[in-house]
Amino acid sequence: MNPVKVGLLGLGTVGGGTLNVLTRNAAEIARRVGRGIRITHAAAKAYDADSLLGLDQVEVCDDAFAVVDNPEVQIIVELIGGYSPAKELVLKAIENGKHVVTANKALIAMHGNEIFEAAQRKGVTVAFEAAVAGGIPIIKAVREGLAANRIEWLAGIINGTGNFILTEMRDKGRDFDDVLKEAQALGYAEADPTFDVEGIDAAHKLAILGSIAFGIPLQFDKTYTEGITRIERQDVEYANQFGYRIKHLGIARKTDKGVELRVHPTLIPERRLIANVDGVMNAVLVQGDAVGPTLYYGAGAGAEPTASAVVADIVDIVRALTTDPENRVPHLAFQPGELADLPILPMEQVETAYYLRIQVEDKPGVVARIAGILGEAGISIEAIQQKEPAEGESLVPLVMLSHRVVEGQMNQAIAQIEALDSVSGQVMRIRVEQLDA
Ligand code: HSE
Repeated sequence: MNPVKVGLLGLGTVGGGTLNVLTRNAAEIARRVGRGIRITHAAAKAYDADSLLGLDQVEVCDDAFAVVDNPEVQIIVELIGGYSPAKELVLKAIENGKHVVTANKALIAMHGNEIFEAAQRKGVTVAFEAAVAGGIPIIKAVREGLAANRIEWLAGIINGTGNFILTEMRDKGRDFDDVLKEAQALGYAEADPTFDVEGIDAAHKLAILGSIAFGIPLQFDKTYTEGITRIERQDVEYANQFGYRIKHLGIARKTDKGVELRVHPTLIPERRLIANVDGVMNAVLVQGDAVGPTLYYGAGAGAEPTASAVVADIVDIVRALTTDPENRVPHLAFQPGELADLPILPMEQVETAYYLRIQVEDKPGVVARIAGILGEAGISIEAIQQKEPAEGESLVPLVMLSHRVVEGQMNQAIAQIEALDSVSGQVMRIRVEQLDA
């Protein structure tokens, strides 16, 4: 059988990795698929020819639309990133009846509903394994491997840069800015690092995971997003003393009232496996009603780990080329007509436990006033500690863990605490999750 012809848009880190993996492992992949897969055309403005394998077999141009319009090409692999022209290219490829593979999480999270609808109409597939957690086959696992389950919740470390920063702050007592610079130099950070540290990149990925877990449309705009920029070294240390680690998690949970989609720093018990996922590594913990908890771990970024996911998607598409569109795995795991219109809960209605750090005057009655406010709000304290003041400081940090409470109630209590004369500045509040079955 003739090899399948693939057009590659972008020959940067992931594009180069994809060409290299497909070239190096061509024979092994052909043994799996039953035919060859060849990148015959590529579009790139600039690339490092010396680092690319099999480039002599590829017709390279700088016009991505020319590749998308080339009638020889059956599958388009979009690895340019960003919204535009990626969106126009993907929609044009679909219009031309080509299947698409993309690693573009921002594009899928923001425009996936429109893109999948167009693909459905045309009977083509848009595959996006590499968009979430790089090389970890998490889309495949949730969409196919766990298809028997009602997914109850999932929680993921899905931004390597953020995880690297928090790990270095904990292990080496380094400062936030210093570690961010290193992550950028290592090539893990997004072009705009605020996407990493403010949780936007993780929210893109979480919107996708939540959608395929619960069979709901993609709703990035309703995903609560909070970054790690306010986390201080002392919080990392106090969390440790309580037996917790601070991780930047994306959490999707189905409740009786609706779906929670939230990205924020979170204290999790240090004994959980996922609490020990360090450095740039990613991990996703998924709780299914039949299987219980399952954990997926691996590299969330980098040339060949991400290429591993891209190439797996190409393999899937090639295997299903002769399958009727209605018999293929649906884009969002559930049949398009079966997507549920469940409400996404506003953060005020979400229930979690909390870590609070309050800067207080060290004098009689202060702890009692704060405990009184929490008690009146129906908030139960699990643990409380007064720490030593920093050198030359008269204020002392009071740190505590609460039991679970609805966020709206906690917000009101925090406002009252901040209004006390004996309390200085804002209360540091970090949510706590046990992540148990
Ligand atoms: N900037 C992302 C990260 C790259 O740090 O995880 C992979 O999406």
